[in-house]
Amino acid sequence: MLKTIARLKYPTWPTITVARSFFNEQHPRVLITGGCGQLGIPLAKQLWQRYGVDHVILSDIVRPTDEIYQEGTYRYADVLNFSQIQELLVNERIDWIIHFSALLSMRGAFGLESPRSPAPDICVQRPRTIYGVSKVHNELLGEYFYHKYNLDFRCLRFPAVISGDAKQEGGTTSYAIKMFHDALTSGNTTCYLRSDTRLPMMWIDDCIQSIIDIMEAPTSKLKQRTYNVAAMSFTPNELANTIRKYKSSFTVSYTIDHRQQIADSWPEALDDRNAREHWGWNPKVDLDELVRRMFEYLKAKHQAL
Ligand SMILES: NC(=O)c1ccc[n+]([C@@H]2O[C@H](COP(=O)([O-])OP(=O)(O)OC[C@H]3O[C@@H](n4cnc5c(N)ncnc54)[C@H](O)[C@@H]3O)[C@@H](O)[C@H]2O)c1
Repeated sequence: MLKTIARLKYPTWPTITVARSFFNEQHPRVLITGGCGQLGIPLAKQLWQRYGVDHVILSDIVRPTDEIYQEGTYRYADVLNFSQIQELLVNERIDWIIHFSALLSMRGAFGLESPRSPAPDICVQRPRTIYGVSKVHNELLGEYFYHKYNLDFRCLRFPAVISGDAKQEGGTTSYAIKMFHDALTSGNTTCYLRSDTRLPMMWIDDCIQSIIDIMEAPTSKLKQRTYNVAAMSFTPNELANTIRKYKSSFTVSYTIDHRQQIADSWPEALDDRNAREHWGWNPKVDLDELVRRMFEYLKAKHQAL
């Protein structure tokens, strides 16, 4: 069954997708594609602890760090190369594939016509970026393979994921990461979104937990195959105010750029009631706790520099 989903046209998959051939309660054999990014490395670390280093293969097309190379199991795997993926699945007897591989552009499986506050699991999705179009394409393709061939396809839609290692530049939500670094260094920042732009966000640990939860959820609990997961939504102004609890002199100036238009087309919040009801999704980290954790992590990082 796994072969049927491996013919990829784009190196992107719905937010994340999980395909399971069977569930060996104790030791599923897992392949993570595109695993050397923001989400793949922390997920692999968790799964290495949970299922064993030999059972979880982190793959990507980039050179792994020394830490990954020495402490984990790494393989080169280009998701555009069908026979290479097929060989890995067969030789390593893979049970679960977690597809992370992506070329991140402007994010989002939703579009201007989607409800924004909040966006439900099932609604009109007309994204206008190749990233968004390929996400929706693969959500539908995965669900087709589930209905037609009983492939155990599971897909999560995430908000922007915040972590200490996330990039400060480039994205529409990277202003949030930059605010923390600037608060710890210069004490002031320039934000390219309006102060009242509300967007959904999630702390990395909750994101990783949601993946483990849906992978391990008994099939009987799942009433659909694609789920929104959410944790919090905040504006630049609300984030800055929370940061001021740790750095009272922190200042923000606003110089709006093209990313405002992109943010205005995104949902302000994701409706994740189905994930909560069906398989017990329960995020732990709110805005106050996210800020506390970022400060703790980044303070240590900045001191070490
Ligand atoms: N990080 C977030 O805030 C966030 C939010 C929503 C959805 N997502 C989705 O979660 C997934 C993981 O996100 P991330 O932040 O870790 O992304 P990332 O950009 O940090 O990592 C993506 C990885 O994919 C790899 N890749 C690119 N082309 C490939 C190919 N042909 N074959 C194999 N690997 C290839 C890249 O080398 C990179 O390491 C992506 O699908 C992304 O769209 C992430």
